[in-house]
Order: sequence, then structure tokens, then C-alpha cells
Amino acid sequence: MSEPTSLRSHLCGRVTADLVGSKVVLCGWIARRREHGEHLAFLDLRDHTGVVQCVVDASVDARSEWVVRIEGTVQARPAGTVNENIRTGSVEIVDCVVTTLNKAEAPPFPVDSRADDVDENVRLKYRYIDIRRERMQRNLRIRAKVNSAIRRAMEQQEFVEVETPFLMPSTPEGAREFLVPSRKEPGSFYALPQSPQLWKQLLMVAGVDRYYQIARCLRDEDLRADRQYEFMQLDAEMSFVGVDDVLGAISRAVVAAAESVIGSAPPEIERITWRDAMNRFGVDKPDMRFGLELIELTSVFAATEFKAFAQAPSIKGIRVDAATYPEAAAAGRNKLDQLTDRAKQVGAKGLVWMRVGEGGALDSPVAKFLGDAEKQNLLTRTGAVTGDLLLLVADEWSTTCEVLGQLRNDIGRPPVHEGPYRYVWVVDFPLFVGINAQTGRAQPGHHPFCQPHPDDIDRLETDPMSVRALAYDLVLNGWELGSGSIRIHDPEMQRRVFRHLGITDEEADRRFGFFLQPFRFGAPPHGGFAFGIDRLVAILAGEENIREVIAFPKTQSGLDPMTNAPTQVGDAQLAELGIRTLPKPAKS
Ligand code: AMO
Ligand code: AMP
Repeated sequence: MSEPTSLRSHLCGRVTADLVGSKVVLCGWIARRREHGEHLAFLDLRDHTGVVQCVVDASVDARSEWVVRIEGTVQARPAGTVNENIRTGSVEIVDCVVTTLNKAEAPPFPVDSRADDVDENVRLKYRYIDIRRERMQRNLRIRAKVNSAIRRAMEQQEFVEVETPFLMPSTPEGAREFLVPSRKEPGSFYALPQSPQLWKQLLMVAGVDRYYQIARCLRDEDLRADRQYEFMQLDAEMSFVGVDDVLGAISRAVVAAAESVIGSAPPEIERITWRDAMNRFGVDKPDMRFGLELIELTSVFAATEFKAFAQAPSIKGIRVDAATYPEAAAAGRNKLDQLTDRAKQVGAKGLVWMRVGEGGALDSPVAKFLGDAEKQNLLTRTGAVTGDLLLLVADEWSTTCEVLGQLRNDIGRPPVHEGPYRYVWVVDFPLFVGINAQTGRAQPGHHPFCQPHPDDIDRLETDPMSVRALAYDLVLNGWELGSGSIRIHDPEMQRRVFRHLGITDEEADRRFGFFLQPFRFGAPPHGGFAFGIDRLVAILAGEENIREVIAFPKTQSGLDPMTNAPTQVGDAQLAELGIRTLPKPAKS
């Protein structure tokens, strides 16, 4: 218990009817002052547990956000003045002696839910006031609970917490790194960790067996609702394991975290392969809270005379039912043009729409190009009924998935925190994803150290794009929570994969030698995972943006309005680091 302390006997939000008649000493901020006639005033005294009403003499000088200590007696509120909405609503503090501990300037915004509508720059400039609010107090405490539950779950499973360095060499993990200049070696730089990936794998070589860390990671990428420069991962790695072991261990941590906030454990986390996820939902982070699944229609149009569909490698559709989208069948041209524009923006050559009328009549500009059998098959395959809207795309498989996956989300996706929590493991990601247009080389699906699927290894040279990796993601309500893989532990296999990525042995030695060399000294088979704690907490707290669950986040433009970071530094400091800056490029 955090009460009492030498300054207070109780916390404000915990003064309830069982204390009637007791003397209490409370400390906190004045949330609100209301004058009551000529002689009395009500002060709502607030700390992190809530507010309690104190009845004081009108002559007491105490204003909003002053820090005070109030000594008084708990009394039941007179009949008719009880406030059912707060825990302390049946009592008040009387016979008060008020001591001012600190005065305060008037706050820049109201310290309550009205601040939700205040410009975020202002909230962040005065974050220490923003955090006094119930919403932020709650979010930070949810976050602490999640961290604590994760630690417990990992420790129960005999994971060992190991702290890894912040100053490290630049490593290949995809995102742009933050660099730190070296004073002793001018012209050389440390990189801040994008994740502890390198270290955790070395810890497996080092025989630690099971490592975890609640790790701060830094990536210089464009910020969005689910991205910050600095964020926290539950990072883990295990030796002598297969995919099921990793998924099992991480599931236990996620379930424990969710349970600590929601009060009940989510059902067992289901699994879907990457290919099924793409085929059914069009994306690798499927939001499974709603239907609108993609429907495979290629064979329906195998012999079609409609030009846009003839010879298309893949044709897919979605059936938008009137329940999901009430305007479906009556959708006007405006709406349909919008959907078509959106489809093209995502990469489609076009979008065929069909409104399903009475008796299955298809209202569509392309209906006249389709034969009766085609129309009938289309209705049967999609299950479309009067009032539905069909949206069809013909293209490469990846494009039909991507376009319809996006339309599906646009049309049906609820806010991320709404509705049931649908966790899903997406497994068997491809080892390579397409060819880099500039280098002409394959690109790794996740990172270059993922173990190819044992059933596919013999196709590594002959059909590399069909090879699956032992790589998996955890998805919650359409947000990627985390990723991981079984790693390559055999140097020869690593060389084979590098070859496909266009990385020669010399280049591999030069770029990752410090990482590959240890693998020659007895690396156990190992695998691991990392999930974003900010994202999990945001969803569990019912927030749309991870900034709401981070005490001191950066704005969308990467700035901190409170400290003004990033700031310029003096020439002397730069000189010491051997750095000269160029003039700022002109804004275009
Ligand atoms: P990955 O790069 O997928 O994997 O990151 C894992 C998870 O970290 C979270 N995350 C972020 N959260 C907030 N802001 C960001 N900028 C941000 N970037 C990532 C996401 C993401 O799913 N080393 C590998 C894991 C492994 O293979 O073990 C890794 O970091 O929730
Ligand atoms: P066009 O023959 O290009 O005039 O297209 C006729 C109709 O088919 C238009 O409504 C286009 O939006 C649509 N369309 C064209 N190409 C495709 C495609 N690849 N997939 C889906 N619809 C298409």
C-alpha cells in the first residue's frame, strides 16, 4: 500500500463511507473550486486515485492545480447530494485545515476529458499536466500492468532477463538507424539498436538458452498512429526449439498481459498461414473481427470474353452485403467511382462493380460482356443475393489480394480497439518477397537470417520465390503486434540464402562478419520473437494511437514540443565529434 506517508493518511479516491467519522489527511491538486454561498467553498481534491470533495471556509485561498494538504473529518454527504458516479461520492471532508504546499499558474487546458480536444502539440508541450488526467493515469497504469504481467510470464517459463547494448554497429534490419558519432574515432558512428536481434542470437550461441528483455528499440522511420522513433518490445529468444515452442511461450506472455488488463484470458490464439491470410483477407495482418472475405473467382471466368478478365492470372471479388454496408445495392455512381479510384490508387487496373438486383439480375457496366453461365456461377460462388454489391479485380495474384484487402478494410474495418479481441498467428511467411527493382536481387521477407521451411529447402535454388520461411507474425485486430522466426544456425545455409539476396561471401564477411563468426563456434538451433508493447497496450487501453500510452512521445513529425528536441548543438561540441553540418536544404 502506498498510504499512509509522512504527509498524508489516505489517498483521495479511496475515502469511502467506511471512513465516516475518521480524521484524514489528504494531499493532492485542486481539481475544481466551487463557491457555495458566502461562507463556504467546495474543493475537489485530486490525486492519481480520484477526487474527493472537501468543504472549506470561503476565505481559504486555494485555486485550480495548487498543491495542498487538507486535514479534516470524513462525513456522509447530506441526502440528495450523493454523486453515484465516483467512488467517493457518498462522503465529503469537513472541518478542513488547508495547507498550501505549492501554488500553481493557471493550467493551459482543463485537467479533465475536455483536454482530449486540445491540440496535441499543446498537450505534449505540457505533458506533465496532461498526465494528471484520469485517461493518461489509467493508460500508464495499464502499461505498467502489462509490463509486469509479461515479466512474470517470461520468468515463470525460465526466461532470463539480459540487458543488451545501446551503442552498437550499424546492422541490417530494414529500418533507417539513428546514428551516434564517436568522439574517440571521428568519422565513425555507433548505431542505436533497431532491436536487440544481434545480441539475442549471440546469447543463444553463448548458452543462455532462454533470453528476454523489455527492450527499447529505435528506428528512424516516418511516424504514424502505430509508430514512434522509440518504442518498446518484449524481445525473446530460445534455443533448441521449433515454431510451436516459440508461439507457445509468446502466447503465454500475451495472454497474461491481456488478462491483467481485461480480467479474463483471450481464447486460444488461432493460426493461419500467410497464404491463407492473403487469399482470404488480402493482407498479411488480417483483421478477423469482420467478414467480407475475398472470394476466388479465377475459374468462373476461365473462358470469358470480357477483355479485362480474359487471361488474368487471378480474379478475386468481395461480396459487400447490405448488413455490412447498408448502401451496398443502392450505392450511387459517386460511391462506386470512389471505390474504383481507391482500387486504382492501390494498384488495380480497374474495378468491376455489380449491384445485385431482384432475381439475381446484375446491374453493372460490364454485365453485357458476361455470359449467362458466368453470371450464374458468379452468383453461386459468391453467394450473392439481392441487395449485395460485388467488387471484382483481375490482375496478378498479389495485386488482386492487395487491392481487395485494402477495399475490405476501407469498407468494413471497425476502429482497432472496438469489438472482440481477435489475436491470430500468421505463419509460413515467404522467405523472399519480390525482386528489388534497383538491385535485381530477391528481398528478404523478414530479415536475412530466417530459416527456410524444411519442406521447401530443396527448391531454394530452383524456385526461390515459392520457399516459405519459418517466420511468423502475431496480429491483433488488424495491427501487427510482433514478428519472429526460427533462425539459420548453419553457416552453409546462411551462405545459400545470402547468395539469393545477392550478398557475396566477401560482402557477408564485411557486413555481418562479427555476427556470422560466432556461428562457427557452436550455434544451437534457435528462434525467437518480438512484439510491440506500445501497440498491445494501446489496443488494450482502447486507444487508436500509441502516443496515448507513452508518457513522453514525439509528435507525428518527430518533435518533442516540451523539450524542443531535436535541438541544435554548438560548434565546439560538433568539432569535438569531428562533425561539420551542411546548410539546411531549401524547403521545396
Ligand atoms: P519487427 O521489426 O517486426 O521484428 O518488430 C517487432 C514489433 O515491434 C513493433 N514495432 C514498433 N512499434 C512502434 N513503433 C515502431 N516504429 C515500431 N517498429 C516495430 C511492432 C513490431 O511487430 N528483431 C525482430 C523480431 C525477431 O525476429 O525476433 C523485430 O524487431 O509491434
Ligand atoms: P476497360 O475495358 O479498360 O474500359 O474496362 C472496363 C471495365 O472493367 C471498367 O469498369 C474497368 O474499371 C474494369 N476493369 C478494367 N481492368 C480491370 C481489372 N484488371 N480488374 C477489374 N476491373 C477491371
